[in-house]
Amino acid sequence: MPDPTRPAPDGARLARIQRRFGEFATEYAALPLYSTICRHVALDAETASLLLAARPGQARPVLWLAALHDLVLRNPDLPAAQWYPSVSGASSGSVGDPWLDVRRTALTHADELRHLIATHGTQTNEVNRAVYVAVGLAAATADCNAVPVALVELGASAGLLLGVDRYAVELTSPGRTDHLGDEASPVRCSGEDRADVGAHLAAAGARLPAVRGRVGLDLDPVDLASGDEVRWLEACLWPEVPGRVERFRAACDLLRDDPPTVLRGDMVDDLAHTVRFARTRAGRDAHVVVLSSWAMTYLAPTRRLELAATLDALAGDVSRLSWLTAEPPGCVPGLQEPTVDVEGDTVLGLQRWRKGRALAPAVLGTCHPHGTWIDLLPALPHV
Ligand SMILES: C[S@@+](CC[C@H](N)C(=O)[O-])C[C@H]1O[C@@H](n2cnc3c(N)ncnc32)[C@H](O)[C@@H]1O
Repeated sequence: MPDPTRPAPDGARLARIQRRFGEFATEYAALPLYSTICRHVALDAETASLLLAARPGQARPVLWLAALHDLVLRNPDLPAAQWYPSVSGASSGSVGDPWLDVRRTALTHADELRHLIATHGTQTNEVNRAVYVAVGLAAATADCNAVPVALVELGASAGLLLGVDRYAVELTSPGRTDHLGDEASPVRCSGEDRADVGAHLAAAGARLPAVRGRVGLDLDPVDLASGDEVRWLEACLWPEVPGRVERFRAACDLLRDDPPTVLRGDMVDDLAHTVRFARTRAGRDAHVVVLSSWAMTYLAPTRRLELAATLDALAGDVSRLSWLTAEPPGCVPGLQEPTVDVEGDTVLGLQRWRKGRALAPAVLGTCHPHGTWIDLLPALPHV
């Protein structure tokens, strides 16, 4: 029964929300749990109306789904929880229709869900992106691999990508697998290597450099020591993608004892300060590698230009500076990007300054946004 003490919901807004659930169900039909839930919520005003609590611009089905995921992660005995592989540990959810359990759980805990929805936004930190970051880092450091690196990530979230060299990264192609990072690591990242870049890196003896300082910068950093913050980040993952939650948990566990520092701040305004901070950690002679992965896409075009100009100015004071970007096409000033549609929507770019001089920018290729496959030039610059 609708709660009579609450003001009547804005009908047009609720209709829009329900439409979005329907669209999500169609777009992600390959996800049995989430598409089924969304198909039902699209037709169920009472559960859909929980999303009316969202802050302006945040009323998206993924926020509703994250709030419910957070609830079942905290309460594994709730009826809905059995349908979540991330809770049950099963490789897939139970067979059948989860809706009655999900609806009952959502409505019994409606106030809690509304509170989560009103106070949170969705956030991600995708560990398997270490696949393209590792190849990019090998390329960025190919001309100076023995020099320790100060790794700076813009839009770092919890800083999980700053641990890239501590993960086992597998590049797989028919008949062979190449490795980067720590082969014995409990964090296993893997990507299909569509253009044999792994074989090329192996032939060139390329490997990851020693990382001496790891510093992230984020408007809203996630503290690996906070159970609530880490669980929310996990709740924003889709529970039914095999291996994704497990990899996330393994990375958090590995980095928790010695976590990368993630400063709170804006990636343009606070960039110079963050680079200075990283150099105090790694030493002034360190090679500064600035990384952005699915972060510059959130900046306005003018801010992206300011970011590029700030890095160019910093290069006067840093003898080796590299800028590795994994962003949708059109986000990174200076890159000559493919003009055709980019499969995977992620372009890996590399810009470098050596002794203050800018080298030619390079587009290394394209990737799946979660590193599931990479299609990167076998002839990486100077490898
Ligand atoms: C999609 S997440 C990507 C996180 C991580 N780089 C990854 O690839 O897994 C984007 C991150 O950028 C951060 N962000 C967005 N705009 C920012 C800004 N202007 N300055 C700093 N961080 C920002 C968000 O808070 C969020 O943590």
